[in-house]
Amino acid sequence: MKSFIRIFACLLTATSVAAAQSEPALKNAFKGKFLVGAALNEAQFSGTNASEAALVKKNFNSTTPENVLKWEYVEPQPGQFNFAPSDRYVDFGETNGMFIIGHTLVWHSQTPDWVFQNADRSILLERMSNHIHTVVGRYRGRIKGWDVVNEALNEDGTLRNSPWRKIIGDDYIEKAFQFAHEADPQAELYYNDYSLENPAKRAGVVALVKKLQAAGIFITAVGTQEHINLKWPAIQLVDDTLTELGQLGVKVNISELDIDVLPRVSNDTSADVGKNFAADPALNPYTNGLPDSVQQMLAQRYVELFAAYQRHPGVVARVTFWGVTDADSWLNNWPVAGRMNYPLLFDRRGNPKPAYLSVMNLCKQKTSPFKYTNHSVQKPGDTPVGSGTLNP
Ligand code: XIL
Repeated sequence: MKSFIRIFACLLTATSVAAAQSEPALKNAFKGKFLVGAALNEAQFSGTNASEAALVKKNFNSTTPENVLKWEYVEPQPGQFNFAPSDRYVDFGETNGMFIIGHTLVWHSQTPDWVFQNADRSILLERMSNHIHTVVGRYRGRIKGWDVVNEALNEDGTLRNSPWRKIIGDDYIEKAFQFAHEADPQAELYYNDYSLENPAKRAGVVALVKKLQAAGIFITAVGTQEHINLKWPAIQLVDDTLTELGQLGVKVNISELDIDVLPRVSNDTSADVGKNFAADPALNPYTNGLPDSVQQMLAQRYVELFAAYQRHPGVVARVTFWGVTDADSWLNNWPVAGRMNYPLLFDRRGNPKPAYLSVMNLCKQKTSPFKYTNHSVQKPGDTPVGSGTLNP
């Protein structure tokens, strides 16, 4: 009997240890502050990568489809819609209680050529309307928020001269938002772009949102992608961006967060998917693992970012990572193919990195350890604030 009780007690302890170990999760750490999401690939949401699916379920309460809802996937030929992958994506999100995002309706990239061929304003508007009504309409009430227009701005804040703008005119953005709102009046609608920390581009997005608001267009949030690196942007620019966008009365989604740790190929800070540079071993220095000093810099950088997000309560609605583990990050192949990058919180095997532990420790502290400083990057060898072992 005694041994039975002992075994039972052991089992109870083991269960509570397991429960405690499984308790700390990103989504719980920031509960009540903002959603924490990840962009998912097909293997993750269709069940073929079960371990990463488990990681997603545990840590995230929002999902974005990395590719399957882009035009080239969902309507590869005129009027021929391929919804099998996106249906699985939405099912996965619903089964796991996620806040499901749709990405993206109108973009110059990953859009088939036929969309723009033989099109004048009215034909292209008709194609856009049909696409948006069909896709948004299919997931009405299920996909809760849409990146309606992606990357419409140049770095200087002017409108990008994309085929959308050339053929339809500047009001293609308004039209896209109108069609999306008609298709699902309950869905949140976002404008999404990169490098909004760059003041000139930020001025452009501020002007764009004001213009949409003045025209009575329904817009819920601006997505700032934050495909950033260890040096750029300075944290002050992140704060400034959140302050200025918040003043417009829209929410802000950190919509595609990752931190590139590899050498930059060019000086520009854009996340233009069209960029493509030749492979060179000098650009791929960490094929045998990330040195501790860089690992610590990454952790410090993530802590500073999350501290900044927490300085804007009620403005930052969601923080979504562009990928789950370093193995599936697009930064292994952009802007140079075949590199080994380390931009996320989970390593290639799905284990939490020092950056994960630092972010989790940060959120336990009542006040942010970071007042604004001008120094966004620590020196190699410094101990990052917020680092340490996870103690649930
Ligand atoms: C990227 C995907 O991660 C890649 O798999 C794909 O090959 C290219 O697009 N900004 C965006 C995202 O809005 O859709 C991009 O995603 C990354 C940059």
